[in-house]
Amino acid sequence: MKILAIDTSCDETSCAITDGRKVVSNVIYSQILIHSKWGGVVPSLAKRAHEEKIDYVVNECLRKYRDPIETIDYFAVTQGPGLAIALEVGIKKIKQLSLQYNKQLIPVNHLEGHLYSSFVQNSKGNPKQSFMFPYLGIIISGGHTEIVRIKDHVSYETLGETIDDAAGEAIDKAAKMLGLGYPGGPVVERLAREVKNREIYHFPRPMIKNQSLNFSFSGLKTSLYYFLKEMNENKKLSQLKDIASSYQEAIFDTLITKTEKAMKETGISRLIVGGGVIANMRLRRLFRGLVNTYEGEVLFPPYSYLTGDNAAMIGVAAYYKAKKNIFVKNLTQLDRIPRFPLPKYYL
Ligand code: KG4
Ligand code: ZN
Repeated sequence: MKILAIDTSCDETSCAITDGRKVVSNVIYSQILIHSKWGGVVPSLAKRAHEEKIDYVVNECLRKYRDPIETIDYFAVTQGPGLAIALEVGIKKIKQLSLQYNKQLIPVNHLEGHLYSSFVQNSKGNPKQSFMFPYLGIIISGGHTEIVRIKDHVSYETLGETIDDAAGEAIDKAAKMLGLGYPGGPVVERLAREVKNREIYHFPRPMIKNQSLNFSFSGLKTSLYYFLKEMNENKKLSQLKDIASSYQEAIFDTLITKTEKAMKETGISRLIVGGGVIANMRLRRLFRGLVNTYEGEVLFPPYSYLTGDNAAMIGVAAYYKAKKNIFVKNLTQLDRIPRFPLPKYYL
């Protein structure tokens, strides 16, 4: 089943053609250079860049695919969550294509894509990892921090989520305060890797003792703000690595503690972890350590482009939705849903 999928939820314009779990063609245009000088994603610039690149990205994806577009069975698109004016660009394009080629359209929640990203295969069908439900899905990105129980394909139940900032956002905001640029995750990881003692400074872990599986990261960012206020510039510079590492540990410790709590409550010890932050090797190691103590397993996106936003994961999620007959009923009424929680159950 060939699916052409588009994601324009944030600052990547992406198109992929998938065949089941296999990625046959994939193009991602990243807007990072556009947004980095502003220290974060600027919605109006994102919209303009998506509009400028969408045709190129789709055409390039089809060119790499080589077969004619008529051989595509279905189209798929990210409906939300994401930036409204960015989502609109992808939705407009996919509507055009669906009408022009008279194909059914599969609506995808961006978070479903991150959950399926661990199962995306290359064009040769690797890696071959098969599904073993149920899973706990953990999404850790710039916009989301969620723990989801996945009972079967396309069957989700959100167990916990952030009540304010996402984990990636908390790292990005810290990086901005430390003058490290945007996005902060990779720089903070690089600095943190160079220290011997990972946690010289202790930053708080908000809500860690709370009964719920929810997260809160905005207080952590505030605590860094006051911590830095007390420090002179020279000391700040000389302690940069220690601060980055200690701050990173506070976030990662919170993620691991809440995940462990979810594992105990649900009895599920198989994890799939997706989202930009799981590019971080220290965090991967912590998750591996966690599942080892429970004789469980953890899956990560198998290729690096799959941690960040991409349309390949949307195409793979769409495949499992098509198998369950989930299509857009009225094409003209399809609209973006900027705040789009994972539906409890699709069926
Ligand atoms: O999934 P993603 O590309 O976009 C969203 O849907 O939000 O995630 C972006 C986030 C940013 O906050 C970025 O700083 C973070 O992922 N990130 C990392 C690393 N690489 C990207 N965080 C920690 N360590 C990294 N190596
Ligand atoms: Zn994302």
